[in-house]
Amino acid sequence: MSITYFEKERIFKLDTPNTSYMIGLVDEENFVGHIYYGKRLAGHEAGYLMRTQEPPFVPSKNNRERCSFYDCFPFEYPTGGLGDYRDSCFSLRTANGNVGSSLSYVSHKIYGGKPALEGLPATFGEADTCDTLELICEDKHAGIEYVLIYTAFKDTDAITRSVRIRNIGNEPFYLTKVYSACIDMDNKDFDMITLHGSWARERHIQRKTLGFGMQGATSFRGKSSHQNHPFLALVTKNTTQETGEVYAMNFVYSGNFCAQAEVSQFDSVRMAMGIHTENFCWKLECGKSFQAPEVVMVYSATGLDGMTTAFHRLYKKHLIRGEYKDKKRPILINNWEATYFNFDTEKLLSIAREASKLGIEMLVMDDGWFGKRNSDNCALGDWYVNEDKLQGGLKYLVDEVNKLGMKFGIWFEPEMISPDSDLYREHPDWAIAIPGRKATESRQQYVLDLSRPEIVDYVYERVASVLRSANIEYVKWDMNRELTDLGSYCLPADRQGELYHRYVLAVYELQDRLTKEFPHLLLENCSGGGARFDPGMLYFSPQIWCSDDADAIERLSIQEGTALIYPLSTMGAHVADCPNHTVGRVTPFETRGIVALAGTFGYELDVTKIPQADRDMIPEQVAMYHKYNDLVRQGDYYRIASYSENHQYDCWEVVSEDKKEALVTYVQVLNRPNFKSRRIYLKELDANKLYRIEGEEAVYSGELLMYAGLQVPNPWGDFQARLIHLIEA
Ligand code: GLA
Repeated sequence: MSITYFEKERIFKLDTPNTSYMIGLVDEENFVGHIYYGKRLAGHEAGYLMRTQEPPFVPSKNNRERCSFYDCFPFEYPTGGLGDYRDSCFSLRTANGNVGSSLSYVSHKIYGGKPALEGLPATFGEADTCDTLELICEDKHAGIEYVLIYTAFKDTDAITRSVRIRNIGNEPFYLTKVYSACIDMDNKDFDMITLHGSWARERHIQRKTLGFGMQGATSFRGKSSHQNHPFLALVTKNTTQETGEVYAMNFVYSGNFCAQAEVSQFDSVRMAMGIHTENFCWKLECGKSFQAPEVVMVYSATGLDGMTTAFHRLYKKHLIRGEYKDKKRPILINNWEATYFNFDTEKLLSIAREASKLGIEMLVMDDGWFGKRNSDNCALGDWYVNEDKLQGGLKYLVDEVNKLGMKFGIWFEPEMISPDSDLYREHPDWAIAIPGRKATESRQQYVLDLSRPEIVDYVYERVASVLRSANIEYVKWDMNRELTDLGSYCLPADRQGELYHRYVLAVYELQDRLTKEFPHLLLENCSGGGARFDPGMLYFSPQIWCSDDADAIERLSIQEGTALIYPLSTMGAHVADCPNHTVGRVTPFETRGIVALAGTFGYELDVTKIPQADRDMIPEQVAMYHKYNDLVRQGDYYRIASYSENHQYDCWEVVSEDKKEALVTYVQVLNRPNFKSRRIYLKELDANKLYRIEGEEAVYSGELLMYAGLQVPNPWGDFQARLIHLIEA
């Protein structure tokens, strides 16, 4: 068992291969306190850290100073309103309007494996890979049962947490805040790392000093968003890729979130994560439960590399599911940047014919195939094939593509409704809107009110019936706007505050149904590029479109930030046209291929129109993908240099688990005069193995390559990329 309860000391200890986490029960009132999270410990005698002998720490004997106790005790799950003035994880309003709650331990369960979370995506594992602790706690006065759920993994350094709340009282109450996880710890003079961005500029890494007071990252856009990411890391000042202590949290949820760190008057830190409180109010009837989404916690004593490895291993083994979990994905060509809305059957077939000759394996038909959708201002919701465009129908097109030996994929934006659509004309109340107020449009569209089961069923049936009508093997599920005007025509007044969360639950339900009915389908999530790239969506789709910006140089920072947490196999990455449609930059075709190789790999251009020299390169790129994709997908990823930090070059490496093979990618952004080569230091090779660089005679030892380095010749020109393939000699 990786989880033990030490009855005498009243301490719970959770172990992963390199980390330990300790929780203590304190005082007659059974407060649940956080003791330790850090390097793995052999012993557990850390109860002295609960300071139970010091005056404010025995509230049952010292009610006079109870407020001092509340305001500094390191709570495992802080509740609010009774004297803890740090931001709490939980608040409610009772039927008679009161707030304030406490939490006391009642009992616990420890068992092998991990429970599923009702209605929510979550990591999974059996008893051979993880153990679970449930701390059952109560507030008798308010009639609340809290179940704090912890799972410790045995094969990766991750601990997951979530909370289930049950109304055990005699009246309904309203949950106004239910965060999922919290760590109350001493401030080790931390810096804070978050990921920020915008459309076409997702997940850029930001590091800054953690100051007193509240700071963090949030979204209340109804999705995890382009702008902020449900991720937060507190790192000691000496943290680099290889050194320093890292405490990280990532939210397995795709809607509103709050990721925060508050430094208190006593220089302790409360790091917390959960559903954002903006317009959140959940009515909980007697006997009913509310399940909060899961947070993944990672501690690394070996810098950001250690953190990244833990997240990647967890997500590869314990989050991503389905047929493509461990499988190479077909190389696709998507017609969005090739044609936008201007296509028909013949145009798509001309792309497919050329693509199939070059070795591309799947045609994806993007936006514009349904209703009267000839521009982005109409027809969302009218999921009927436009046979003026697709002459002969969808099945004919798919069959023709299949005859070329290619698979066929299709784009949907199922959660939306255009004001100019047959669906809206028929059901104007189906859009999320405040009754009587004109709703805000974005990309000239509204969002469907997925809190209504009949709308969820409609959406599902439309998508599924298209998929049933032909041999469609891939779906790109898009979501191109934020939620505004939070109102539902159907929810009662005291449940309107449930809309944001019900919406996310419905998206999960839809994708759950879809992946069950079509188990062979390759699903790729997307949201105006990468605005919903989060572990919640990864549970349903093994890959997510990373960004609408496919420029090879912009992608360096986007993919670096994304790969800080998520495996390379999840990052949708394509070779796109030049000048690039987002930034107008011209980069070599070869460089675009090498940068896309670090993701799922595909094309987003009109292959019948690109220069012949570029077209000629595609079969080589296809071969490169087939040669390296197993390694890229399955190997361990390490960052060697960051262009966003050094403003000169980018470099990363993937090493196979047996360390017999490694692939280094080196991208020089702007060339510099009189500069012949640069030394890079490889990582995590076997120091005792000998490696040969493919295409060269020389053999180098692993230790030399790691500690003395490798001299990379300076490529000629700007935006140049090189692959260095090391094989055990
Ligand atoms: C979003 C996606 C794009 C494309 C368009 C279609 O922006 O990110 O890849 O599918 O929608 O409208």
